[in-house]
Amino acid sequence: MSEQITDFKQFSQITDARWYPRYHIAPPFGWCNDPNGMCYYKGQYHFFYQHYPYEPRWGPMHWGHAVSDDLAYWKHLPIALVPEEPYETGGGCFSGSAIEKDGKLWLMYTGHLQANPEEEAAIGFPHIEFQCLASSEDGVHFTKSATNPVIEEADVKSDEVSIHDIRDPKVWEHNGKYYAVLGSRTPDMAHGQILLFESKDLTTSWKFKAISARSEGNLGGMWECPNFAEIDGQDVLVFSPMDLRTDDGTFYNDKVAGVLIGKLNYKTGIFKHGDFQYLDKGFDFYAPQIMQTPDGRTIMIGWLDMWNVDMHEIRDGWAGQMSIPRELHVKDEKIFSTPVKELEKLRKWTPITFEDVVIDEATSFDGVAGEACELVLTIDAAESKKFSIAIRASELEQTVLSYNASGKFTLDRTKSGEIINGAASVREIEVEPTDKLKLHIFIDRSSVEVFINDGAEVLSARIYPKRTSQKIIFVPENGLLEIDSLEFYKLDFGIPHPHIKDTPVDVAKEFPFLK
Ligand code: FRU
Repeated sequence: MSEQITDFKQFSQITDARWYPRYHIAPPFGWCNDPNGMCYYKGQYHFFYQHYPYEPRWGPMHWGHAVSDDLAYWKHLPIALVPEEPYETGGGCFSGSAIEKDGKLWLMYTGHLQANPEEEAAIGFPHIEFQCLASSEDGVHFTKSATNPVIEEADVKSDEVSIHDIRDPKVWEHNGKYYAVLGSRTPDMAHGQILLFESKDLTTSWKFKAISARSEGNLGGMWECPNFAEIDGQDVLVFSPMDLRTDDGTFYNDKVAGVLIGKLNYKTGIFKHGDFQYLDKGFDFYAPQIMQTPDGRTIMIGWLDMWNVDMHEIRDGWAGQMSIPRELHVKDEKIFSTPVKELEKLRKWTPITFEDVVIDEATSFDGVAGEACELVLTIDAAESKKFSIAIRASELEQTVLSYNASGKFTLDRTKSGEIINGAASVREIEVEPTDKLKLHIFIDRSSVEVFINDGAEVLSARIYPKRTSQKIIFVPENGLLEIDSLEFYKLDFGIPHPHIKDTPVDVAKEFPFLK
């Protein structure tokens, strides 16, 4: 069994809570990136993530771990996977997924061997990736399989695969067999692709089935973090393509997260699909993971960040946070994502609600302000034509959401606080023009997530405002702004942190593993 790390004093401690989320999952120490192993096991939701606890930067990957009874309130658990094996040297335990079998919880992940110069000369490449398993009887303590790795280079029976980049297995069961999709690329690194493997028993005999899908045109040179599920009767491949073109406006970011909707032929392993669709058109949403809830919903959490972009929380001793859990649906071949209904549990205080308010100048409403809150709005877009809403606003700072009736929606973080280098600050998207514009907005200490028209479009961003920038200001830009309805909720602490002073937490109770 993996040694459990108990000396957490050596980890990177959080020195300031100004940007540390109140209800989004973030690492208790150090760094996080991709969501991993999201599943429901023995009555609880388990959420793992790529984690480096020692410093607020990427380093040899561990798997951080949190659990929840309800997807709203989470609790940190001890680190689940620590890189200790030869096949994980250097890079650590990369992304993967989870599945229950025979009462045990199995994690399938990628061991990433980062070669030293001598090894690199021998293998002709700086890294090798192996697919591995670990299992647990209690969902907390994990043992890596003695038969690891269960898929290695030699198992890839195709010369159209760059055998060094094969990672991020998502495993599922179908008609008594186990399947795993893996992110990959062609040997010339020009085309991202998804590999399908099959096994009769999960633990051994993984066989290469097919290259299921590939970027034939401009859909990137590597596909990471594939996920696969049937949603509303359609097969959906969720994945994160990288090396995308942005200079000619083809893509919003050079890495994005999206879906292909179609049909997987389990006999041939080929996935026939339609065009690429974004899961989120904001600046910060990557490597999402999906899972099925016991009541049959497909839910998703993504990393609410992007590679190679300023993360100002690094100076506070931590880095990275997750999105809220979102429920996925397919309607008329289009993907929709909306906040899971369980988040309503965080609405601990009396809401502020009103209907049919018309304003003709910039207006803030009493009590409608905050750093951790939720807004549900319906706006008469036919009458209002052009308006904006400033959030996390003060005299000096604001993050601005704006809309005009021709269907342009903009998220502008130019003045949101600390300047974010490495990414754009203004995002303008097209939304289906409508008479009634519906917005569902989640604000936390350093993030905003905007769901437009029941999740037809989503925009997410990290922002770094001052703690005191908490106003929400409604601004008619062309005469009148007609608000059909507004609901405002202040949100509770969803994931208590042991060391942040304003988090009401009993360390002994919430963090028994920290002693
Ligand atoms: C995606 C990714 C994965 C990899 C992990 C490493 O963000 O690059 O492909 O497994 O991060 O931390």
